[in-house]
Amino acid sequence: MRDRIIFATGNMGKMKEIKMILEDLNIPVVSMKEAGITAEIVEDGKSFEENAIIKAKAISSLTGEVALADDSGLEIDYLNGEPGIYSARYMGEDTSYHIKNANLIKRLEGVPDEERTARFVCVMAAAFPDGRIITTRGTIEGRIGYEERGKNGFGYDPIFYLPEYQCTTSELELEKKNELSHRGKALRQMKERLKEWLKEE
Ligand code: IMP
Repeated sequence: MRDRIIFATGNMGKMKEIKMILEDLNIPVVSMKEAGITAEIVEDGKSFEENAIIKAKAISSLTGEVALADDSGLEIDYLNGEPGIYSARYMGEDTSYHIKNANLIKRLEGVPDEERTARFVCVMAAAFPDGRIITTRGTIEGRIGYEERGKNGFGYDPIFYLPEYQCTTSELELEKKNELSHRGKALRQMKERLKEWLKEE
């Protein structure tokens, strides 16, 4: 069936961004909710790739349709890649990001600028009814700041500083963030792959 794509997320913020970027595919992109699917998917993969594939495959098997999913997070080099695939679960799923961000700043106390390097990573996976899987990966490099800055964005954005722009991703306009972000990059690559798929016989 090639009349829609289901995106395996319950996050409306992500959905908005994704619909915007995939608009010119001229095929509806619907959320799990819009597709009437309720499924608890256990993300027990060991990498962003594994987790994205687990989610996309689960929804594609359930529906027999093409499904997209993403997995993303923040990797801090000084902390050996933490929080990484545990970014959403770091210090507990229900802990506020204000507390999580303050904790990360504390763990980097006294660490000089050049050792505060970090990146946001996003992996997109598409699972097709015939069993095929495609993944794409996008990253954005930055540094962990010394305090929270900015009111836009979400999660770790207020402490993710972009030296080139002299601001955090939380201080960027949404359009600019989409242009530069890990998710935007992974999604634009995925769009090209989906265009090829739509052209197949
Ligand atoms: P998931 O990809 O929905 O499993 O969650 C990834 C987690 O990584 C989010 O809950 C955020 O904590 C963090 N994260 C991913 N992308 C961003 C971003 O663009 N800004 C801030 N935090 C992010």
